[in-house]
Amino acid sequence: MTMAVKKIVFALILASVLVADADNNEHERVMFGYGGPTGPEKWANLNPDYELCSKGQHQSPINIDENEVAYNPGLEALERDYVPANATLVNNGYHVALLFDNNVGTVLVDGKNYSLKSVHWHSPSEHTIDGERFPVELHMVHMSDDGKAAVVAILYQYGRHDPLLVQIQKQLKEVDEEACRRDEEAHIPVGVVQTRALKRHTNKYYRYSGSLTTPPCTENVTWSILAKVREMTKEQAAALQAPLHQEYRNNSRPTQPLNHRVVQLYRESDKHDEKSL
Ligand SMILES: *[C@@H]1O[C@H](CO)[C@@H](O)[C@H](O)[C@H]1NC(C)=O
Ligand SMILES: *[C@@H]1O[C@H](CO)[C@@H](O)[C@H](O)[C@H]1NC(C)=O
Ligand SMILES: *[C@@H]1O[C@H](CO)[C@@H](O)[C@H](O)[C@H]1NC(C)=O
Ligand SMILES: *[C@@H]1O[C@H](CO)[C@@H](O)[C@H](O)[C@H]1NC(C)=O
Repeated sequence: MTMAVKKIVFALILASVLVADADNNEHERVMFGYGGPTGPEKWANLNPDYELCSKGQHQSPINIDENEVAYNPGLEALERDYVPANATLVNNGYHVALLFDNNVGTVLVDGKNYSLKSVHWHSPSEHTIDGERFPVELHMVHMSDDGKAAVVAILYQYGRHDPLLVQIQKQLKEVDEEACRRDEEAHIPVGVVQTRALKRHTNKYYRYSGSLTTPPCTENVTWSILAKVREMTKEQAAALQAPLHQEYRNNSRPTQPLNHRVVQLYRESDKHDEKSL
């Protein structure tokens, strides 16, 4: 296919995503992008529902300046209690996600349970640490029973295999082929996914209140960014990008102003020191 034809086919795919959403009585989605006329600076103009993307004062992602974070002795260990669960791999056009079919488990944030619903990836990372951007960022999206969102983010650099991605490597290939063939969101059942890697103990994380990093940029999302940068191979990072159209392979929203927010720090070693006092 020539580039022009590819663009038209892609526009049709997006149009059908819109219709599918309307049929499901979900919010009507206007497709946003990461550059040009639908890029992050224009999101609020695309749909009145997206106005927080420019008006919001507590937006995500942010840069985490390690010299400005505040140790908060009130923060608790990030207790994540997940079990293996069936999942479906989805390419929704702007990112690749893994949706869990049933109750996979919870994270405890400020004494409140949030259930893990899905995980998805952004490349390069959306959050930066001391200005450093990493090749990939994983978002684990959790919801509470009263509709509040808590996202746990993991940053990745290139290195060894990531055990979560190893499990869906075959389906990532399928979702890639599907993206070329079909004219709608690709859904590939994955079977049971082991969640051990997602609940690995963390002894340091950053906490702040922010937003969804995609329209409608809804605020009051509680973010927990794990301080330990994990590893995946270059091939794994490429496999996450391959199913996406060229214009969505960089699906990283620029960092947003902090606007007086202070990023809080949880550090296990300091907790231990307190206890021994
Ligand atoms: C996954 O789905 C299969 C087929 O529906 C079912 O037999 C199995 O019990 C499920 N496993 C889990 C852990 O939910
Ligand atoms: C959170 O969920 C876990 C596992 O389902 C449960 O054991 C725990 O009691 C819950 N905690 C709160 C505060 O609801
Ligand atoms: C977000 O939280 C603030 C402060 O807790 C509250 O005033 C505001 O109404 C919340 N916004 C939404 C959309 O829930
Ligand atoms: C991707 O987009 C971000 C934010 O718009 C930009 O800062 C970055 O330079 C881009 N990265 C690549 C590899 O194109």
